[in-house]
Amino acid sequence: MSKPILQIFTVTTREGRKGPAVAAWFEQVAREYGKFEVEPIDLKMVNLPLMDEPEHPRLRRYKHEHTKAWSVSVQRADAFVFVTPEYNFSMPPSLVNAVDYLVHEWAYKPVGFVSYGGVSGGLRAVQMTKQLVTALKMMPVPEAVTLPLFTTAIDAETGRFAPPDLQARSGIAMLDELLRWAEVLKPLRTV
Ligand SMILES: Cc1cc2nc3c(=O)[nH]c(=O)nc-3n(C[C@H](O)[C@H](O)[C@H](O)COP(=O)(O)O)c2cc1C
Repeated sequence: MSKPILQIFTVTTREGRKGPAVAAWFEQVAREYGKFEVEPIDLKMVNLPLMDEPEHPRLRRYKHEHTKAWSVSVQRADAFVFVTPEYNFSMPPSLVNAVDYLVHEWAYKPVGFVSYGGVSGGLRAVQMTKQLVTALKMMPVPEAVTLPLFTTAIDAETGRFAPPDLQARSGIAMLDELLRWAEVLKPLRTV
C-alpha cells in the first residue's frame, strides 16, 4: 500500500528568509518518521500572484494556469504541515494568499504547524491560521512544533537549523496525529 502524502510548506517568500532552514530540518524529521511520502513545497517557488481568479474557487472554474497547477499540487496531498513564522502577531500574507486560491483541494485533510519566532515561537500566527483552515474543512491537530528564539539554533556559518531533540519529539507526536487523521478522513475525500 502506498504511503499517504504529506506536503510540508515553506510559507515565507522574502529575500533572506529563514523559513527554508526550519523546513529542511522538519522535512528530515518527517522522512525519518517514515510513514508518509514527504513532499516539500516552497511558496516562493510556487510564486502565486495575489489572488487573481475571477470566480469563487469553490466553483473550480479556474482561469489561470498558475491556479490549475496549484490545484493539482494540493489535491495530491493527504496531510499538510505549514512551516510558518508570525509577521506582526499574525500569519504571513503569502500563506493566506496560497490558501485562498482553493477550496475543495484542502478539505478533509489534517494540518499541523511548525512555527518559529521570538519569544512567541510564532504561536499567534498558528492560532490565527487555525481559524482560516477550518473554514476550508481542514482539520488542525493540536500537537505542534513551537520554536521560540529559533535563531539561536541556526549555525552562523552553514545556516543549518538544529534545535534540541525535544523539538523532533514534538514533531513525531504531531506526525502521529496527522497520520491518524489522514487515514480516518480518507472516506470523506471524494473529490
Ligand atoms: C514583517 C515581519 C514581521 C515580524 N513580526 C514578528 C512578530 O510579530 N513576532 C515574532 O516573533 N517575530 C516577528 N518577526 C521576526 C521573525 O520571526 C523572523 O524575522 C523570522 O525569520 C521570519 O521568518 P522568515 O525569515 O522565514 O521570513 C517579524 C519579521 C518580519 C519580516
